[in-house]
Amino acid sequence: MIKKILLRDQKKYIMKDGEVQATAKGVKKYYWTAGDLHTPDGILKEKDLETTKGKVLSHSGKEFFALDANFLDQIKRINRGPQTLVLKDLGYILMHAGLNKDSIVVDAGAGCGLLAAVLGKYANKVISYDMNKEHLALAEKNLKFLQITNVELKEGNVYEKIDEKEIDVLTLDLPEPWRVNLDGVKNGGTIIIYLPSIAQVTEFCNTTKEHVQKVVEIIEREWHVQGKKVRPKSEMLGHTAFLIIVRKL
Ligand SMILES: C[S@@+](CC[C@H](N)C(=O)[O-])C[C@H]1O[C@@H](n2cnc3c(N)ncnc32)[C@H](O)[C@@H]1O
Repeated sequence: MIKKILLRDQKKYIMKDGEVQATAKGVKKYYWTAGDLHTPDGILKEKDLETTKGKVLSHSGKEFFALDANFLDQIKRINRGPQTLVLKDLGYILMHAGLNKDSIVVDAGAGCGLLAAVLGKYANKVISYDMNKEHLALAEKNLKFLQITNVELKEGNVYEKIDEKEIDVLTLDLPEPWRVNLDGVKNGGTIIIYLPSIAQVTEFCNTTKEHVQKVVEIIEREWHVQGKKVRPKSEMLGHTAFLIIVRKL
């Protein structure tokens, strides 16, 4: 579990018109859990990190800024394995899941456990299936790191069966969701499907007997805002996946 984020403002230097010029500040980021933190800009002592809020100096007098870490900082530090989700899709899934503290969620496949962990923060219980032992081990490690205890990992092929009944929310992030038997989801329950390819979306929507509420793709465009340079950033994440929101009839 990460306890603090340490930021250090850094000017970058470039050559322009034969002169060295300072560009806008870049920020270096470090993560601290325990012990002294060694950085290229000096050592930050554990006792200072434990007690200081805000500004903290390294042994060589360099200035850092300490922030308490939150859940988002934690999930950025988990180990990734198979393809996982990005924040724009996680946020949309979370709201459409309509969770409350009594919700029972089934999730498949677990992958590195990221979606299960996020759902676990808001639900009563999450049961997350994967048929790959290595992915389950990775998910277990990440859940432990995040100190999430209400996610149960299960080895199993959800194309063959899902044990749970009266499921409030089922999330499916696997290649052929149309092969999953949805009988365990309770009436009015929500099924959220994450699919990278539109051919998969078509296959699901054309074969399901449930109510497809909507099919969406979430586009996030980040802006660069600095002085009078105010414009969308040049690079963006073009496509991650389509999301299908389904209600059980
Ligand atoms: C894209 S990853 C899931 C990522 C995950 N949602 C996350 O939050 O990181 C797909 C996972 O589904 C698993 N999987 C594929 N088919 C499956 C099946 N029929 N039953 C259970 N797990 C399956 C794979 O082993 C893989 O770990």
